[in-house]
Amino acid sequence: MADKFYITTPLYYVNASPHIGHSYTNIIVDSIARFKRLKGLEVFFLTGTDEHGLKVKQASEANNLNPKEFVDRLVPQFKALWEKLNISYDDFIRTTEDRHKETVRKILGILYEKGDIYLGDYRGFYCTPCETFWTNMQLKEKICPECKRPLEEISEKNYFFKLSKYQGWLIEYISENPKFIQPSFRTNEVLAFLKEPLGDLCISRPISRLTWGIPLPFSDDHVTYVWFDALINYASGAGFLTDTARFSKLWPADIHMIGKDILRPHCVYWPIMLKALEVDMPRMVFAHGWWLEGGEKMSKSRGNIIDPVYMIDKYGADAYRYFLLREVSLGSDGVFSEHKLKTRINSDLANDLGNLLNRTLGMVELYFGSRLPYPDKYSDYDATLKEHAITIWKGYDALMEDLKLNEAIAHIWELINFANKYIEESKPWILAKQKDKRLNTVIYNLVEVLRIAGISIWPFMPVTAESIFGQLGLEKKFRFSDLKEWGLSKPGVSVNKGNPIFPRIE
Ligand code: ME8
Ligand code: MG
Repeated sequence: MADKFYITTPLYYVNASPHIGHSYTNIIVDSIARFKRLKGLEVFFLTGTDEHGLKVKQASEANNLNPKEFVDRLVPQFKALWEKLNISYDDFIRTTEDRHKETVRKILGILYEKGDIYLGDYRGFYCTPCETFWTNMQLKEKICPECKRPLEEISEKNYFFKLSKYQGWLIEYISENPKFIQPSFRTNEVLAFLKEPLGDLCISRPISRLTWGIPLPFSDDHVTYVWFDALINYASGAGFLTDTARFSKLWPADIHMIGKDILRPHCVYWPIMLKALEVDMPRMVFAHGWWLEGGEKMSKSRGNIIDPVYMIDKYGADAYRYFLLREVSLGSDGVFSEHKLKTRINSDLANDLGNLLNRTLGMVELYFGSRLPYPDKYSDYDATLKEHAITIWKGYDALMEDLKLNEAIAHIWELINFANKYIEESKPWILAKQKDKRLNTVIYNLVEVLRIAGISIWPFMPVTAESIFGQLGLEKKFRFSDLKEWGLSKPGVSVNKGNPIFPRIE
């Protein structure tokens, strides 16, 4: 049986339409999921929406809707965006679904029985945009330490989860498992935070203040704190406490991909929740960087967002995916601009990849009546290109396994650029004039390079890759091992030169 690979995205708050930041995480995870499927793994890719809590409640009020009606209207916008972007998720979980609520309530019950949850007085501050509790001792001014926005002061009876009991264990676990939190500088950040005593986590809200949440199984007067609820999706979505066989097959999650804004809940609360439940740790939490706008994090709460739908309709899903993945390395921040997007499209996609395909197929048309020729003898130079092509899988694989997606793409582009240079230097138009048989080899080589480049870019640009396969007259059934083989393009096959895959943008 194939190995499983379980990867998740955060569950996005449905307080407004999705923006570039959300699409970024889903594009990253989609590319990794597609890569793992190419390698033959049985992938489970989970995404979804975080629907409870004060922030969503307030947004629904602003729209004069009850929260359930409000979220029911917004969720289709998220799903529509994922469809537009060809996000190949296997499951979409909403925290308002029964399967999720059931697991949350069971977990609360277990932790309460165990004595890890107790009733206490909560005095402190709340940041609604971050849905985060802050206590006096953590604060110097009434400003959220995380997002720098004003806090709301509260004092009420609430339930607490004993984070502090597990602090020592967590420090040890993180120190002994340096791969757990990635990129590795984030490990240090979490360990630095854990140097201070960890207060217990307030995990409820009184229904007098908020009803939009999952009722606590042991109190009629409280609902569950939205973060405690939402983190559990990674388990409920895999069948924890509802489908044991499925859960034991899928767990532990291989990667929780998140943005760096939500490092603490994922690297402190979630591991401790799992530890308290005696469940294995996820293998990795990876925090990517932010897309900035006007020097700040692009966010729904700040309202400085760029609409992904506009960009995708104008430039295409694959170009948009390519830009986000290629422009910054996973973990660093980036600045989105339409100008930079256009520049990438014209240089990398239209010029490098698009031209290679177009010129190659144009020559198959012109010199061989659209049928792929048999290769003739290989010169040293022909063999060098072939060798380069059938060995790129090594670097590609290593970079992908290291989640260096932008470098993996750059690695593929070295092959594409080599092939373009090969055309310039081999001068097929002169070979044709001289009726030199090497023409057959050159053309065959270029088609094979395009096949290998096509398979390699498949995880990042699925529509483009399949369009390349179609134009080359290939079936869309490739495995990772086909990157190592030469000669899978069948001489004699008819190619179908289409319109340029990436026309130049003025
Ligand atoms: O935090 N740049 O939801 P959220 C890059 N519901 N990525 C960004 C981004 C930006 N400017 N803005 C958002 C929540 N993201 C909780 C999560 S998980 C159990 C609960 C992406 O709607 C990034 O993945 O605020 C970030 O972590 C996430 O969206 C936050 O989405
Ligand atoms: Mg947020």
